[in-house]
Amino acid sequence: SDALDNELAEFLSELRLIKDEHEIAEMRGSVESTIRGFEDIVRAIPQATKHDRGERVIETAFFARARLEGNDLGYDTIAAAGNNATVLHWIRNTGQVNEGDLVLVDAGVEADSLYTADITRTLPVNGTFTEIQAKIYNAVLEAADAALVAAKPGVLFRDIHLTAMEVLAHHLSDWGILPVSVDEALSAEGQHHRRWMPHGTSHHLGLDVHDCAQARREMYLDAPLRPGMVFTIEPGLYFKNEDLAIPAEYRGIGVRIEDDILVTEDGAESLSAHLPRTVQDIESWMADLWKS
Ligand code: GLY
Ligand code: MN
Ligand code: MN
Repeated sequence: SDALDNELAEFLSELRLIKDEHEIAEMRGSVESTIRGFEDIVRAIPQATKHDRGERVIETAFFARARLEGNDLGYDTIAAAGNNATVLHWIRNTGQVNEGDLVLVDAGVEADSLYTADITRTLPVNGTFTEIQAKIYNAVLEAADAALVAAKPGVLFRDIHLTAMEVLAHHLSDWGILPVSVDEALSAEGQHHRRWMPHGTSHHLGLDVHDCAQARREMYLDAPLRPGMVFTIEPGLYFKNEDLAIPAEYRGIGVRIEDDILVTEDGAESLSAHLPRTVQDIESWMADLWKS
């Protein structure tokens, strides 16, 4: 019966690959609640800097929004300030939130219908990016934008990831960090850039944060995109404090930008694009929220 259970799980995963209008409307609602939750996060940052567990101040500000507007969180919130942002899936959230650092927040509201959003923003704790923070941030943003432009019906799911990796490998090379040529890094045997971007760029999203996970490879990773698919684009760069392979100024900085993407008839729509995501838009959005 285990084999039959697995077959059923695979079948259900594959049925869920294309979202219908009702599902898409639910996911739009989850994204809007999550965006309001990110506004709550920004409003909580000044208080977070004064608390021993500032990351929990951010986590709980978002949790209130998830419970008041939705069913719950779609998954445990990652609130990761400073070097903690370089730890993938940091959900302890026990750290301080210090002026001058970035804070990476990965959070999603799950609607009463159980459809969830999955959004990440990386914000400057004091409202302004430093030069090196902005440089790393803009490389990740360029990778995310290139991946969105590449997403359209017929393109293979896995090629979205390759598009993002190409942008990041070029930047790492320009910065003198990549130890080999861009071509060698991008080759199957190379992948040197993955030291600083060790996760996938995309996963399907829906009832589950990692939706359709039991789908066969030929239906998921190796499949062409089709209208109605919803997935994340979430490139990042993570430079650990203890990483001696990079210049000191990069250390302790982790950046991820994650948006929720709907494949349309002729391209793709980012459902979360109106949550500020450029350096300038983030800085003015934070300043406005702190004024009001
Ligand atoms: N929040 C989990 C993920 O981004 O996959
Ligand atoms: Mn995700
Ligand atoms: Mn996420």
